[in-house]
Amino acid sequence: MHDQSVIKVGIVGLGTVGSGTFNILSRNADAIFLKTGKRIRVSHIGARRDNPNVNIADSSFADEVKVSRDIFDVVKDDELDIVVELIGGTDVAKEIVTYALKSGKHVVTANKALIALHGNELFALAKANGVVLAFEAAVAGGIPIIKVLAEGLSANRISWLAGIINGTGNFILTEMKNKGRDFDSVLKEAQALGYAEADPTFDVEGIDAAHKLSILASLAFSVPINFSQVFTEGITEITQEDLQFADSFGYKIKHLGIARRTEKGIEARVHPTLVPNANLLTKVDGVMNAVMVKGDAVGSTLYYGAGAGAEATGSAVCADIIDIARGDVGSKEIAFGKKQNFISIDEIRCAYYLRLDVQDQAGGLASISKVLSKQNISIEGLYQQEAPEEDTVVPVVIITQRVEEKAMNQAIKKIEALDCTQGKAKKIRIEHFKS
Ligand code: HSE
Repeated sequence: MHDQSVIKVGIVGLGTVGSGTFNILSRNADAIFLKTGKRIRVSHIGARRDNPNVNIADSSFADEVKVSRDIFDVVKDDELDIVVELIGGTDVAKEIVTYALKSGKHVVTANKALIALHGNELFALAKANGVVLAFEAAVAGGIPIIKVLAEGLSANRISWLAGIINGTGNFILTEMKNKGRDFDSVLKEAQALGYAEADPTFDVEGIDAAHKLSILASLAFSVPINFSQVFTEGITEITQEDLQFADSFGYKIKHLGIARRTEKGIEARVHPTLVPNANLLTKVDGVMNAVMVKGDAVGSTLYYGAGAGAEATGSAVCADIIDIARGDVGSKEIAFGKKQNFISIDEIRCAYYLRLDVQDQAGGLASISKVLSKQNISIEGLYQQEAPEEDTVVPVVIITQRVEEKAMNQAIKKIEALDCTQGKAKKIRIEHFKS
């Protein structure tokens, strides 16, 4: 057995988060020692190639760190106490994590896809082997939101949470809105800055946010992780027009992950959302993330910080390593409760923004409002762009009151079939987070 005052860490994957983690552990080695009374040493790195942002020779671990090109050499290293999995993906990563847990090593990961898809099985495996699988960095980068739900708010019955949990998507919407930039150029910049996933469709189609939301929902409501039940809609259909119309009604469009406990079951959904300007989530711009959590005892709380990037995410990875070094792992032994019903998107209730292309002719608006009133949908606001000449097609924007999504969809079908409308209606959900 090696010296108990030294914790040996192996890092698998030296990409953006791997480099951040290594550099923090090296630079802050003395500060971390003061907090833990343990020396946390990176003694093995598994990486297919070097990372120019990591200078091992100048680091605190220069004398001892071994670099292997075969990443499985790291998990096979019996000297290690903790394996840090930072390769991403779900195939090899699952093998690495399974091997490490079975061989009695604690695992720290930033891999939201792995936890969302295989977390239930892997937490059980960790428990069976008397080790922990820690994943603070998997959701919202540097914001300690896992700790908030598992520890800080543990006495509360959580009624809902809502978050901007994909930095790339938020960066794109912010740049489009504030600078009038086009979608593709902002996405390219997010990739160059290291925010986007290897496959950026995960960011813009909402899959990354859905991975994260499934993890948050399970912690908030003490249920097993249920990624397949998260409704997911991306930001690729949001246009400059929508951003500006929303603004004129006093809203910002944010890509939110929302999880709520309802009488019918749990709702979990990721989609673009109109949020009233007075809500603090509308102030969260660029790559920043934020999560709002409503607990019965504490009320509404808000957590804000960098949701992506080498050291912001590395900060969360290091926090898990430090907890394990201290033996402070109680809340990481995730004990999910029983399965619960997740409700379908048809059953949710919210307000809606509808953008329609309407032929500017007498009776057009009347026929649209007749469809809505027959469906018992009340109009809260309406805007029709002035037509440059008679009979041209102009955008009409309608803000509705809260209604069940199923009724809204039925009304939209009927509106799309009217003679005065053209093409498909654009529907964006609105949330006020009043209760
Ligand atoms: N691609 C992710 C994002 C990285 O943009 O938020 C952090 O999980």
